[in-house]
Amino acid sequence: MVVSLIATAFWTMLPAYVPNNAAVLAGGGRPIDGGRTWGGRRVLGDGKTWRGTAAGTLVGTLLALGLNAVEPTLSGAVGTDLPTFPVAAGFGLAFGAMLGDIGASFLKRRTGRERGAAFPGLDQLDFVVGALVLAYVAAPEWFAATFTLPVLAVVIVMTPILHVVTNVAAYTLGFKNEPW
Ligand code: CTP
Ligand code: MG
Repeated sequence: MVVSLIATAFWTMLPAYVPNNAAVLAGGGRPIDGGRTWGGRRVLGDGKTWRGTAAGTLVGTLLALGLNAVEPTLSGAVGTDLPTFPVAAGFGLAFGAMLGDIGASFLKRRTGRERGAAFPGLDQLDFVVGALVLAYVAAPEWFAATFTLPVLAVVIVMTPILHVVTNVAAYTLGFKNEPW
């Protein structure tokens, strides 16, 4: 069923979707690169901070544990057996999402883009790639059982759409400086 497939994909990626938004709200303070430059440009830039990264990782990991608590109820309501998250899987999804976003900033700076500049494609998928890779590394058996090919396909198609919608909303509500 397409609906249960979409529900499963969305549910499974929630611990990866929420960290970037938590980082936007919690960000600030010392940048990870400490202001250092490479080739005349910042290594990462002021938009990647220790506090934002830690907050995003923590919120995503705790969210996964919270989802475990409501899984039986939700699975019953949706009529699908939604997965639960071992701690390693929740942490992998959350920290991986933050790392993917940090990697994208590294690439943005190397290609001459200032902080906040858009990099279409990369902006929408960087954190998905990071989350999937780290979840695989942290919990390989869980990953193989959970991210079946149909679920992966829905994640790849659905995430850029969700990313655009949430970022435009965050910009409109004044939480973000740019709508991407
Ligand atoms: N943020 C943070 N730490 C992170 C990621 C995000 O503190 N690891 C916060 C920063 O305040 C950042 C905001 O969330 O400005 C928005 O995140 P993002 O759009 O990823 O950063 P940008 O400022 O646009 O910088 P970049 O061009 O490097 O993506
Ligand atoms: Mg940005």
